[in-house]
Amino acid sequence: MIELRDVYKRLGSRQILAGMTLSVAKGMNFVLMGPSGSGKSVTLKHIIGILRPDQGSVTVDGQEVSTMDRGQLMTLRKRMGYLFQNGALINWLSVADNVALPLQEHARLPKSERDDRVQQVLKLVKLDHASAQFPPSISGGMKLRAGLARALVTNPEYVLYDEPNAGLDPIISRQIHELIAEVRDNLGVTGLIVTHSRACAVQCGDRIGILDQGKLGLQGTVDEMVHSDHPLARDFLGGGAD
Ligand SMILES: Nc1ncnc2c1ncn2[C@@H]1O[C@H](COP(=O)(O)OP(=O)(O)OP(=O)(O)O)[C@@H](O)[C@H]1O
Ligand SMILES: [Mg+2]
Repeated sequence: MIELRDVYKRLGSRQILAGMTLSVAKGMNFVLMGPSGSGKSVTLKHIIGILRPDQGSVTVDGQEVSTMDRGQLMTLRKRMGYLFQNGALINWLSVADNVALPLQEHARLPKSERDDRVQQVLKLVKLDHASAQFPPSISGGMKLRAGLARALVTNPEYVLYDEPNAGLDPIISRQIHELIAEVRDNLGVTGLIVTHSRACAVQCGDRIGILDQGKLGLQGTVDEMVHSDHPLARDFLGGGAD
């Protein structure tokens, strides 16, 4: 379980998080929405310990992240995949080498086992045919799949998804959402998904929370949220939202 309790964080001259409280139960996908610049990515960065709160606590399975040392953070990051916007692949490494990166950082696996694991996870995201290609020559949807494979290669218990469908057409987006739902259902991965997309929230979320003025202004199950007439729910999930 991921828990933020009463987190405050100031960056530069702005108070970004102010009393942010959030909990993501095991085995579910929690969708975090909110305006641009409201602190969604900042929230994810607290969970993997890139940022530390000024005040409040951030725990994963009861362990406080904000006070972890380098070694403890490395151990935590083995258990937590991170899908960056647009996949954030390295252009001069092949798809397979990009996917293998976290294994080199974390585990001293023999090369043959490493290759097997990479192929396994590429197959899972239906990209095994493209393992030798380089990022500049593959489509946006394929980049995201490769990013997802990289997030999954260490067999994490948690995956943080930062805008997994940004810039993708509705058909490719839907495939990515299905994949995210499968990762939950078949691998038992707990997910925290940042998105602006109503379709993403509905297709792969269990709960939805909306960040407003530094904290969750509203949260509930997908069903509660899409039927809510709260102004925040209407803004982000209402008829006009995509
Ligand atoms: N390391 C940093 N130093 C200073 N300011 C930062 C830093 N990281 C983020 N910010 C600021 O914090 C605010 C929140 O950023 P964040 O990236 O979390 O927004 P977001 O909700 O993810 O927005 P978007 O939907 O556009 O991705 C922004 O104003 C951003 O400029
Ligand atoms: Mg962001």
